[in-house]
Amino acid sequence: MVDVRLFSASQIADPNALFALIDRVQAGVPYNDTSGSMLAKEWAPKAIGDSKTVLLAFEGAKVLGYCFGQPYQSYEGFLSSAAAYDVEPETCMYLSEFGVDASARNSGVGTKLLGALIAENDSAFESILVRTMLRVFGTDEPNPAIAFYEKAGFELVRSGGDVLVEDAGRFADRPRVFLRWRKPRLANPT
Ligand SMILES: CC(C)(COP(=O)(O)OP(=O)(O)OC[C@H]1O[C@@H](n2cnc3c(N)ncnc32)[C@H](O)[C@@H]1OP(=O)(O)O)[C@@H](O)C(=O)NCCC(=O)NCCS
Repeated sequence: MVDVRLFSASQIADPNALFALIDRVQAGVPYNDTSGSMLAKEWAPKAIGDSKTVLLAFEGAKVLGYCFGQPYQSYEGFLSSAAAYDVEPETCMYLSEFGVDASARNSGVGTKLLGALIAENDSAFESILVRTMLRVFGTDEPNPAIAFYEKAGFELVRSGGDVLVEDAGRFADRPRVFLRWRKPRLANPT
């Protein structure tokens, strides 16, 4: 049985197992980054420390998935773009890292993690923003995570009629798109 638990940075009993999982996810679809230049042990401790919510999924003692939620306002570089993403900075959660072990995909683990992120922060935010690759790196295939997010109720952020694509600077060879989820509003009873 898969069990999703909430952690703070200091509570993660086996950070190396989590970093190894993140590295495996980064080496696979859609990133296909096998360069080893961005090892999780170098950057993930800061990402965990900056996160409001760190959720890990386990099967027994084995970590199968992770999901980090960070207040949008604390994510440098995004603040000036809130209008373009159509989110309120004060009530938006940025889903900064999210992955499930390839061997455990398509069995509901990602959905459980996302549901737990929403439940944990239910009163604190109104929307979630995520940035993900448009295509599987090195191919013309769409990134499967986009279909996952759309199934979960996210919509692609558009500019005018077109999907907003970030493809400048260091992202020139791996264009990325944004997806936004909004908390459903209760119908006005009057
Ligand atoms: C995106 C990701 C976290 C989803 O986790 P998951 O555990 O596989 O997702 P789930 O099993 O909960 O899938 C939920 C739904 O999305 C759909 N889905 C998942 N992967 C899909 C794919 N590759 N193509 C189409 N639909 C997909 C499932 O069919 C499922 O729908 P269903 O409930 O009707 O069957 C996982 O695929 C992953 O780690 N991908 C690589 C890393 C990544 O891209 N992370 C996102 C970074 S922004």
